[in-house]
Amino acid sequence: GKGPLIDPFGRAVTYLRVSVTDRCDFRCTYCMAETMQFLPKSEVLSLEEIDRVASAFIRRGVRKVRLTGGEPLVRRGIVSLVDSLARHLGRGLDELTLTTNGNQLAKHAEALAAAGVRRVNVSLDTLDPDRFRRITRWGELPRVLDGIAAAKAAGLAIKINTVALRGINEDELGDMAAWCGREGHDLTFIETMPMGEVDEDRTDHYLPLSIVRAELAKRFTFRPTDYVTGGPARYVEVAETGRRIGFITPLTHNFCESCNRVRLTATGRLYMCLGQEDSADLRAAVRRSPSDADLDAAITEAITRKPKGHDFVIGRGGPRAAVPRHMSVTGG
Ligand code: GTP
Ligand code: 5AD
Ligand code: SF4
Repeated sequence: GKGPLIDPFGRAVTYLRVSVTDRCDFRCTYCMAETMQFLPKSEVLSLEEIDRVASAFIRRGVRKVRLTGGEPLVRRGIVSLVDSLARHLGRGLDELTLTTNGNQLAKHAEALAAAGVRRVNVSLDTLDPDRFRRITRWGELPRVLDGIAAAKAAGLAIKINTVALRGINEDELGDMAAWCGREGHDLTFIETMPMGEVDEDRTDHYLPLSIVRAELAKRFTFRPTDYVTGGPARYVEVAETGRRIGFITPLTHNFCESCNRVRLTATGRLYMCLGQEDSADLRAAVRRSPSDADLDAAITEAITRKPKGHDFVIGRGGPRAAVPRHMSVTGG
């Protein structure tokens, strides 16, 4: 088949997330263990192979491509991949974007904007340098803030991603919203998801966003907005700042019913759901033949297996991760 990608639940797949590397220059405590085994380079798709797979998806109706990692900006040649994929913008592709930790953003912001990226998502869980070092294990906050400033100066719109963590950043989530308001960034809060074994028990730090939202509503006036990105966040507009705050609530308010996305890993496996283990080997299809017939067939088959949704649960059954792979394998 070569038509649009409709899953067994009638959902159209229009959003492809591409993890270009499993490596990262940070080790956020909720994301990775301190010591991680990374993939040997031989297992990883070349930039040309990534381009081929992403282009096949765009031909099948994908309108949004997000590059992730690990950390996408540690992949050598990443800007040339962006440049190349940008040829699809306005020809099927509406948005080409990245989710980054910001550590290398100062260096790449101008080139990304010049290539046609309009918007980037930057992970930032705290505005306190000591806390930042504790969460990322060695990240330097000023460097990331410089990256964000460079992206803004290059004309990129920015969404800050903040994982809400009990006992770690819960006391500064309002300040984060105020800072984003002043800086002109959108902000999404995220519930921590039980993926991969890390060195701490996520149950200890899990903070339901229903609580965060109620706290924030004491300080800010929320107005409804129909703003949508095609991502999982549900947004409100903050009257005091004019910016948006989104809530990504896999645990407290499941959004799988409107799922429109699949994920390609750095080794070319396609995961049909962030919270399920089933995957399809697109690398084999890509390497089997230079024609895209095998690849198209493998994609068609994979979409027939897209499950209804995740079954993440936190706080029941102990600290065991709901799926064994780490978030960095699929980039969230
Ligand atoms: P926008 O295009 O700005 O909406 O971005 P996005 O929210 O789609 O992407 P981003 O990379 O910023 O992801 C933010 C958070 O949403 C991350 O923690 C992702 O893991 C999470 N997320 C994205 N898609 C899904 C999904 O399908 N299921 C779950 N459970 N979480 C998701
Ligand atoms: N739960 C929720 N979000 C996570 N991220 C990384 N690990 C987790 C987790 N276990 C976030 C990062 C980044 C986004 C891609 O996913 O902070 O913003
Ligand atoms: Fe790296 Fe992002 Fe994971 Fe932090 S959350 S370790 S920045 S991939």
